[in-house]
Amino acid sequence: MQLTHNTILITGGTSGIGLAFAKEFKSRENTVIICGRREDRLNEITVQHPGIITRVCDVADAQQREELVQWLVTNYPDVNVLVNNAGIQLLTDLTQPCDLERVRSEIETNLVAPIHLASLMAPHLRDKNGAAIINISSGLAFAPLAFMPVYCATKAAVHSISLSLRHQLKDTHIKVFEIAPPAVDTELGHDRREDKNESHGGMPVDEFIAGAIDALQNDIYEVAIGQAEHLRAKREGMFEVMNN
Ligand SMILES: NC(=O)c1ccc[n+]([C@@H]2O[C@H](COP(=O)([O-])OP(=O)(O)OC[C@H]3O[C@@H](n4cnc5c(N)ncnc54)[C@H](OP(=O)(O)O)[C@@H]3O)[C@@H](O)[C@H]2O)c1
Repeated sequence: MQLTHNTILITGGTSGIGLAFAKEFKSRENTVIICGRREDRLNEITVQHPGIITRVCDVADAQQREELVQWLVTNYPDVNVLVNNAGIQLLTDLTQPCDLERVRSEIETNLVAPIHLASLMAPHLRDKNGAAIINISSGLAFAPLAFMPVYCATKAAVHSISLSLRHQLKDTHIKVFEIAPPAVDTELGHDRREDKNESHGGMPVDEFIAGAIDALQNDIYEVAIGQAEHLRAKREGMFEVMNN
C-alpha cells in the first residue's frame, strides 16, 4: 500500500502499537486520527504530537462505533485506511464459573469492534484510492497461551475474519492486511504488573513497527513478525512448548 497521503483511523491510539503507528504514519505525511477511552492521554498526545487528531471512543460500545464512523466520514471524508488495533488482554480461569461480562467485554473489544468497524467503513472505502483495512491480530492467534484463552480465541477469530474480509473485498481495490505481532513491549496486560513501568520483555515497539511498515509497503497481506512467525509456522505444535 502507499504509505503517504492517506487519511488513517487507528483505534486504540493512546499507547503502545497504536500510538507508535500514529507517530510513524504522521511522519510520513498522512492525516492521522486516533481514538481511545482515556481522554487525558488523548489530550497529552495532541500537545506532544501536534497534528494527530483525537477522538474519545469506547470501541466496545456499538453506538459509539457508529457515531465514530459517522463523525469520521463527515469531518474527514478522505479517510481511506482503517487500522483495527484496540485490544485488551485478560486472564480467564475456565475451571471456575467465569464472569461473563468480562468475557463479553474482551470479545466485544477485540473481535466484534473490528468486524463492525470494517463493515461500517467498507462502503465508504470502496471508492477511495489506496484504501486499506489493517487488522492487528497476534502470534497467539495460531498457538494459544492457555491462561488467556478468550484473548487467544479472539485473535484466532481476527485471523479468520481477515481471510474472509479479504475474500469478500477481492473485487474492490480495498486491501486487507493482517499483522500478527509477537510479544511487544507495550502497556498490554500492564494492569497485571505491580510496577506499571516494568517491561514485559517483548520486542521494542519501534522494531515491531519497522517490520509492519515493511509488510505494508510490500503488500504482504498477512505477516507474522518476530516470534509470531514461529507460532504461525508451527501452530498447535508450539502449544505444549508454550504452556509447559
Ligand atoms: N503488545 C503485545 O505483546 C501484543 C502482541 C500481540 C498482539 N497485540 C495487539 O496489539 C494491539 C495493541 O495493543 P498494545 O500492545 O499496543 O497494548 P496497549 O499499549 O495496552 O494499547 C491498547 C490500546 O487499545 C485501546 N483500547 C483498549 N480497549 C479499548 C476500547 N474499548 N475502546 C477504545 N480503545 C481501546 C487502549 O486505549 P484506552 O485504554 O485509552 O481506551 C490503547 O490505546 C491489541 O489488539 C493487542 O491485542 C499486542
